[in-house]
Amino acid sequence: MRQGGAIRALRAEDEAAWWAFRLAALEESPEAFLVTAEEVRAMDGAARTARWASMRGDGGGDGFVLGYEAEGRLLGALGLRREAFPRRRHLAELWGMYVAPDARGRGAGRALLEEAIRRARATDGLRRLRLGVSEGNDAAGRLYEALGFREFAVEPASLRLADGRELDERWMELVLVR
Ligand SMILES: CC(C)(COP(=O)(O)OP(=O)(O)OC[C@H]1O[C@@H](n2cnc3c(N)ncnc32)[C@H](O)[C@@H]1OP(=O)(O)O)[C@@H](O)C(=O)NCCC(=O)NCCS
Repeated sequence: MRQGGAIRALRAEDEAAWWAFRLAALEESPEAFLVTAEEVRAMDGAARTARWASMRGDGGGDGFVLGYEAEGRLLGALGLRREAFPRRRHLAELWGMYVAPDARGRGAGRALLEEAIRRARATDGLRRLRLGVSEGNDAAGRLYEALGFREFAVEPASLRLADGRELDERWMELVLVR
């Protein structure tokens, strides 16, 4: 990483910092995510706590949320969710990649992705990492390509925005085991 800071898996007690960070991300980059800030604002405390647990894989090893922190501030995040059905256990999806605007362009995104890949490679039976990128999101697309992800499908009209625009999603994957 070309800047100070550290990456760690976030825990239950990071919930307040997580939701503040997540809301800022959804507000700043609304077209990069499936979820909207309005949806998160409408959730009560119990719903947020339950969602936060499921995002981290409920402690059962089916996912994690990595945080990039500098000077005690959460500045970047990336989640991984492993598929639940036995015949899909070889697959996991990356979600929620975000680096705060003032921390971009200095390697935090790359470091988060490298750490997620390292952890995925160390997970027994996990063979492929997948993720979706909205059309036109070249910064994210280039980052994924730089670390070996390749496009395998385009999902038409994957997101329909409030103004009626429809965005295609580029699905990319990294094969961990051949
Ligand atoms: C995409 C994002 C996470 C990148 O984070 P970052 O910390 O700025 O990325 P890095 O500094 O680690 O850059 C790593 C590589 O990504 C690519 N990249 C990053 N920003 C880029 C940009 N603006 N234009 C082109 N390529 C870019 C480059 O290949 C770069 O490699 P380099 O530094 O050797 O040139 C960040 O821009 C972001 O949070 N964007 C808004 C949310 C978003 O789009 N999330 C992804 C949803 S799929």
